[in-house]
Amino acid sequence: MPDRRRQRYGDVDYDWEYRVDTTSATIRWRTRLRGLLHSPYQPVEPELFRAMLNALHIDFTRFTFIDIGSGKGRALLLASEYPFERILGVELLPELNQIARENIRKFPRHLQRCSNIEARVEDATKISFPPQGLVIFLFHPLPEADFVKFLANLNGSLETLPRPIYLLYAHPVFAGMVESCRRFKRIGGSEQYALFGPG
Ligand SMILES: C[S@@+](CC[C@H](N)C(=O)[O-])C[C@H]1O[C@@H](n2cnc3c(N)ncnc32)[C@H](O)[C@@H]1O
Repeated sequence: MPDRRRQRYGDVDYDWEYRVDTTSATIRWRTRLRGLLHSPYQPVEPELFRAMLNALHIDFTRFTFIDIGSGKGRALLLASEYPFERILGVELLPELNQIARENIRKFPRHLQRCSNIEARVEDATKISFPPQGLVIFLFHPLPEADFVKFLANLNGSLETLPRPIYLLYAHPVFAGMVESCRRFKRIGGSEQYALFGPG
């Protein structure tokens, strides 16, 4: 039964199905310790990710998808099922990003509608956002103080270059911060996620 299997093996179903390594179960203790200082690695549930993307009624081909804190790249692989113009992952820990790159190389091409995927080592609080329309994915990416910096940076980018930006926020613990920033308004969601569009 799926529940028993999850209890015993953790979040490995996706990896078995697609022959990749995105589980948190195989993270080395040194990486785990570093994760505790920022935000520990945990991959998004595929069902939740697809529900969020399917609730977003936009022309994906006009947008760049960005995963803030992309870890081993599961959200990047899932996003490649949609016809984005480009997919970008930003991850603080090089050892996780190296695995993400291997996963991108191994993932079956015939399942992808976007193969323009880049996984980068970078501090997500300091990134220079691409100048296109953006779909930004957030899943427990940053502790509170860093989330504040991320939002201020995003605000600055929007001020310099106004463009459509959507936030897909899974398990949105800091949704109130996004709401209080007048550039975004809540356009959908459930108990598990929040969707924000241009305000
Ligand atoms: C909960 S995991 C999300 C993984 C991925 N987004 C997914 O859905 O499969 C959070 C990730 O954010 C990364 N992270 C934490 N602080 C960061 C920062 N300042 N810049 C970039 N990545 C960061 C962590 O190393 C971790 O891999």
